[in-house]
Amino acid sequence: MQAVNKMSEEWIKVGDINDIPKLGARIVRTDAGDIAVFRNAEDEVFALRDKCPHKGGPLSQGIVHGRQVACPLHNWNIQLDSGMAVAPDEGCAAAFPIRLEGVTIYLSLTPDDGCPNK
Ligand code: FES
Repeated sequence: MQAVNKMSEEWIKVGDINDIPKLGARIVRTDAGDIAVFRNAEDEVFALRDKCPHKGGPLSQGIVHGRQVACPLHNWNIQLDSGMAVAPDEGCAAAFPIRLEGVTIYLSLTPDDGCPNK
């Protein structure tokens, strides 16, 4: 966890990709709630509201596999790029845009469209 440095109105710098273990996540605390920033095995980085669409489990504590995270509470799989639950489960966690500049991660606090549970 790290304090957020404002870079502009839109994007905040959350740190270096190497601060996040592969297949792990870190939490960015914002006024609008916690956002989980994930890194997968391919060094892709994703950001989702740290709240499972099932019963609010902490997705940041889940197991990352491929481009999904398995919720630690009841094992729903959530797509890291969209926040959508993988069928047969239904629901979504808000997904937030990520920008990588070299190894530096920037996060937008404006969620992507597509999930009503922002
Ligand atoms: S709270 Fe995530 S699967 Fe139930």
